[in-house]
Amino acid sequence: MAGEEREARQTRCSLDYKDPSGRSKGRGEIRFKTSFRNTIYDAFQSRGWKETSSEMDWDIHWCERDWMFGTFDHVHLESWQRVNHYRNDRELCRKDLLVKNLKRQKKQLEKEKRTREAALYDFWPTTFVLPGDYALFAEEFKRSGGAWIMKPIGSCQGRGIFLFTKLSQVSQWKSEHRWKPDNKDAEAYVVQRYIANPYLVAGKKFDMRIYALVTSFAPLTCYLYRAGFARFTNVRYSNATADMNNAFMHLTNVAIQKTAGNYDKDSGQKWDLRQLKLFMLSKHGSEATDRVFNEMQMIILRSLLAVQPVMINDKHCFELYGYDIMIDDEFKPWLIEVNASPSLSANTPDDYELKLQMLNSMLDVIDMDRRRDADSVEHQLGGFDLIYHNGAMVLDPSSAYSTFLGADCPRPDPRAAAKARSRPRKPKPSAADAAKAVLAAAKLKRGAKPHKYYKQT
Ligand SMILES: Nc1ncnc2c1ncn2[C@@H]1O[C@H](COP(=O)(O)OP(=O)(O)O)[C@@H](O)[C@H]1O
Ligand SMILES: [Mg+2]
Repeated sequence: MAGEEREARQTRCSLDYKDPSGRSKGRGEIRFKTSFRNTIYDAFQSRGWKETSSEMDWDIHWCERDWMFGTFDHVHLESWQRVNHYRNDRELCRKDLLVKNLKRQKKQLEKEKRTREAALYDFWPTTFVLPGDYALFAEEFKRSGGAWIMKPIGSCQGRGIFLFTKLSQVSQWKSEHRWKPDNKDAEAYVVQRYIANPYLVAGKKFDMRIYALVTSFAPLTCYLYRAGFARFTNVRYSNATADMNNAFMHLTNVAIQKTAGNYDKDSGQKWDLRQLKLFMLSKHGSEATDRVFNEMQMIILRSLLAVQPVMINDKHCFELYGYDIMIDDEFKPWLIEVNASPSLSANTPDDYELKLQMLNSMLDVIDMDRRRDADSVEHQLGGFDLIYHNGAMVLDPSSAYSTFLGADCPRPDPRAAAKARSRPRKPKPSAADAAKAVLAAAKLKRGAKPHKYYKQT
């Protein structure tokens, strides 16, 4: 028996285990399972939920992505159980698949003659996947030159990344690297045009981490969190070729920056998004700033629409995505990557507060306590605003801005929270209710209209 198959069978056997107390049926308390010991753990604890190490007797499992691959398909989940990933979230979060899906969506829109919308799918830097696209890349490089960045497709925290301006540097990498045309296990890379003209603050490069919560891909239901942060490098930016190897100047990952001798531990070299927005408002005015923030929101939405046709929707799943976005000096935002497991560890007190509040608002949206009607959708909960639902964008005509991204997050109101907690909890849905909900969702999907955007104001 192949190793993988044996492992899957063993997993299936162990999951047949039934808790002899039978506590999963109808008990009042919410039980969570997770191996993480960071802000998500604290968020669960702060709600008075109980941790469990039981294999399957939990209400919410904040799992690692490996669990989704190895176990999710082999177990039966009760209608109320929730997990924090979609089965194939790598369609959005693996660097090569993301670009493949974005390109496909653009082509599809062109085919449907929706040329204006197709033209708006231009928010990722030109990308090729190596080794497969090497010839295409070399042709493009010879034609246009410039600076490029190499990134392993499935890595994170800046690992394995390097910049180059000469094709010989890639040839050198090719000869040193495990990558050989006949080596099936060779790690694939994306090679991407480097954004060499970033928008700078005090001479330093930054990128932004923005959080989006998807509660369903069919139909797409997406919330965007108002707060987020900009992560700065600690070396002033230069695009001189001689500085290309300086990761402290070019890569904004905290994992890299914190190893610099002069890393600023107090600020974590971060600004919250609101601070950045205020800075930009004061320098460039409200129209230009609102446009950039709105474009960032639209990048997030369009990337989700691009993967929607291939995502395996499941009513037990939701996902909190961490978007990496950069702005260039012409005020154009660029999508760098999407993370399915954005870091929830905090490196400053402000960072801790931001993440804890964000996760608490996320748990309000998920509504594990079942305080709301099953089919009700809230437009705003804490810092999360609904941006897309039932095939259309959700806009707030009363707001002077076209997006809440970067706006103040409402502080949690303890009285409102107490009132919400005092609302009676709905009973756990029965199997018949769950079947009805699946049928309703299927009907909606069949009759779904093509996506349309409401005109922006
Ligand atoms: N095309 C690019 N142009 C400019 N900077 C980039 C580009 N791609 C990545 N970076 C920088 O490198 C960092 C790491 O890249 P990213 O794609 O997010 O990989 P990782 O998964 O390792 O975080 C980004 O946060 C950004 O600072
Ligand atoms: Mg990243």
